[in-house]
Amino acid sequence: MANIKFFSGKTTPIEMHRVRIIQKLNLLPINERLEAMQQAGNNTFLLKNADVFLDMLTDSGVNAMSNDQLAAMSQADDSYAGSATFYRLEKALRHVFGMEYFLPAHQGRACEHVLSKTFLKKGQVVPMNYHFTTAKAHITELGGEILEIPVKDAFDMTSTCPFKGNLDIAALKQIIAERGREGIGYVRMEAGTNLIGGQPYSLQNLREVSKLCRANGIPLIQDVSLLSDNLHFIKQREAACKDMSIHEIALAMAEASDILYFSGRKLGFARGGGICTASRQYYLDIRGFIPLYEGFLTYGGMSVREMEALAVGMYETLDEDVISQGPQFIEYMTNELIKHNVPVVTPPGGLGCHLNARDFLPHLKPTEYPAGSLASALYIISGVRGMERGTLSEQRNEDGSEPIAPMELVRLALPRRVFTMSQIVYTVDRVNWLCQNRHLVGGLQWLDEPRILRFFYGTLEQIGDWQQRLVAKFREDFGDSL
Ligand SMILES: Cc1ncc(COP(=O)(O)O)c(C=O)c1O
Repeated sequence: MANIKFFSGKTTPIEMHRVRIIQKLNLLPINERLEAMQQAGNNTFLLKNADVFLDMLTDSGVNAMSNDQLAAMSQADDSYAGSATFYRLEKALRHVFGMEYFLPAHQGRACEHVLSKTFLKKGQVVPMNYHFTTAKAHITELGGEILEIPVKDAFDMTSTCPFKGNLDIAALKQIIAERGREGIGYVRMEAGTNLIGGQPYSLQNLREVSKLCRANGIPLIQDVSLLSDNLHFIKQREAACKDMSIHEIALAMAEASDILYFSGRKLGFARGGGICTASRQYYLDIRGFIPLYEGFLTYGGMSVREMEALAVGMYETLDEDVISQGPQFIEYMTNELIKHNVPVVTPPGGLGCHLNARDFLPHLKPTEYPAGSLASALYIISGVRGMERGTLSEQRNEDGSEPIAPMELVRLALPRRVFTMSQIVYTVDRVNWLCQNRHLVGGLQWLDEPRILRFFYGTLEQIGDWQQRLVAKFREDFGDSL
């Protein structure tokens, strides 16, 4: 991490890159933003990008690429089998993780599909620090059950715990004692735990989980999609690792697990995915599913151009200046919002700044979807697109009841190397205004609720006419400003 001090004493994070290709942005007037949000069924996934000013929906597949990544794309070797591109990517992954085998897949959820097929039998459970939406859907679709056993700080919104993504070791011991090896498909650890606010786990915790899994013959699968943030936090927050290089930490994390998988839309700043393992047996167990569902073993559904970019992105992940920029911007944004008394998740994690919608909109019932309402309101008043990560992102229970999520968050993702400081300042300004006018924000109700992964394409409507009243107040305060 670059050590640059300011004469003013301010702690403003500074970009360790310069912008050389730009994309023009458009900020629609507020009445058109209201119309766009209503047409999207109050679901930010259904907005057209042309109607979005700052796209903080996700970091998935939208991280800025480096000049070296772009250059590497032009050497892509487009052959169905045995492409030189594959061997370059395999070499990069072997270097980063020290694992012999690499199985390519078209993105992260494809790895989840293949791994569940390989390691899960109907009726088995999958203990994990916390679920990710697609990981859970693949497990439950196959008749498995997820058991979330994070440490208790995980759900404490304003904790100072540096590793809220840690797994509760005592709870894992109990599950193993109760279910036995046969009752457990595998254990899943998710780096930079997405749905609890991009929170990391420590190397020590991972090693303890690993020890238990190995002693009981249970495969430990690590989702390293958000590895770059987790690497940064281990280096910054775990005293025992402060003198280790980022590469040494990555190797130690890999060594602790049997299988790694990742979304290349996140890890490696490109698009794609894959599975790594040091075990020939696991490689053989998984292998047959790759040509069946993804593509031949040397591309797995990925474009070779993306594979080249991914290989370079993997090396760049070992550069502290590269991986620290996201968490530093997120920390800055979170601290600025705290100054304005906006409820946010602390400590700041990776991936994005997370608004605590339950405290932001305390007057809404959980079944009125506070995080969905907040994401909708924020787009209307700012053109900033965030993502609901709360009850709407859950699957409805089998008995038709609503599974109220332990946390109602709106994630303002900061894709890596994409946003400038003034765009962060603008977002803080608008979130602050919304917080001061929070009483105007009402709830949402379903118009169309799909059964699987409903948050992606379900539609909702406002309860009452709060959105029109919010627009009127914006006009009152901002006049003809966009
Ligand atoms: C932690 C984690 N795992 C898996 C996935 C799924 O990856 P993909 O979107 O490439 O299918 C994501 C995507 O956001 C993720 O954040």
